[in-house]
Amino acid sequence: MKFKERVFSGMQPTGSLHLGNYLGAMLKWIDLQKTHECIYCVVDLHAITVWQDPGELRNAIRQVTAAYIAAGLDPEKSILFNQSQVSAHAELAWVFNCVARLGWLNRMTQFKEKAGKDRENASVGLYAYPNLMAADILAYRATHVPVGDDQKQHLELARDIAQKFNNDFADSIRAAGYEDGQFFPQPEPVIVGPATRVMSLRDGSRKMSKSEPSDLSRINLTDDDDTIAKKIRKAKTDTEALPSEIEGLAGRAEADNLVGIYAALAGSQKADVLSEFGGRQFSEFKPALADLCVSRLGPIAHEARRLMADPAEIDRVLVDGANRARGIAEPILGEVKDVIGLIRAPS
Ligand code: TYM
Repeated sequence: MKFKERVFSGMQPTGSLHLGNYLGAMLKWIDLQKTHECIYCVVDLHAITVWQDPGELRNAIRQVTAAYIAAGLDPEKSILFNQSQVSAHAELAWVFNCVARLGWLNRMTQFKEKAGKDRENASVGLYAYPNLMAADILAYRATHVPVGDDQKQHLELARDIAQKFNNDFADSIRAAGYEDGQFFPQPEPVIVGPATRVMSLRDGSRKMSKSEPSDLSRINLTDDDDTIAKKIRKAKTDTEALPSEIEGLAGRAEADNLVGIYAALAGSQKADVLSEFGGRQFSEFKPALADLCVSRLGPIAHEARRLMADPAEIDRVLVDGANRARGIAEPILGEVKDVIGLIRAPS
């Protein structure tokens, strides 16, 4: 079957979004919206794989939705919704729990990192997390998935699940009219640009993340202008001037990170940044980076705050998005049920 090009991606509503989410994923989401049918989800069922305070979770779901819209995602054009409103995600995830193998999940590095030493005490949901992610994507037969570099392994697993499902039910899939046996597509990761892995501002060997204790390590999309400028001023660097060539960034993780951030915010490449700033000290580069960051992120924070003042309108956007999402996912889930031999109510 020739699959229609369709984009799916999502973010967890755990705390506020940060510069890594914005540069690693959201900038591409905004770009793809111009050319593709796009579905962008607030993955609240993924968030509860670790305990969340219910009041804070509710607020974070709205806040992430507000950030999506403030950053430039258009709820009329793209489908914006929260995962738990479309039950097809959880239902398909169960089917995939029965397709994916324990050995595959045992290899997931993100589970190992998140569960830490106390594995026995991690939730079953945290372990099965990648199966739900595969369901998110395949419930829409999405073909393209724009994400940061850290999601690569999960996407490989989604591809393995799609392939195993197609193989396990090959006869039934053909009998249902799919002559080439392709019920699910192989979703393509879209991991491109100069900032696919934004690092902590305090330690160039660690990923920028919501869970890092020091708030100075990340720029939140909710930070005000002064806070953004302060965090860049305090960002860890070495004492050398910036190199003029990309090769000169090797072994200089912090410099490489700041140059990548600048390039992504400016819509250019690292080489362009170095041809402008090569030979200059961080004392000159950092103020330019802070100005750029404030000019790009300031208006997003401002608009998100304005949207958050009307939570009923955000909820309306989510309900509308969920209705449209269901319109795509439910027929596909119905066919999944037929193919694997379940009996469903006639639609
Ligand atoms: P999450 O919520 O951790 O992150 C959301 C997106 O931001 C990217 N990202 C980064 N990119 C660059 N540098 C960083 N430091 C950085 N930190 C985060 C992530 O790669 C991601 O694209 N499992 C996913 C959410 C998800 C999903 C999906 C994504 C659930 N279902 C289906 C795509 C398709 C996650 O936890 O992302």
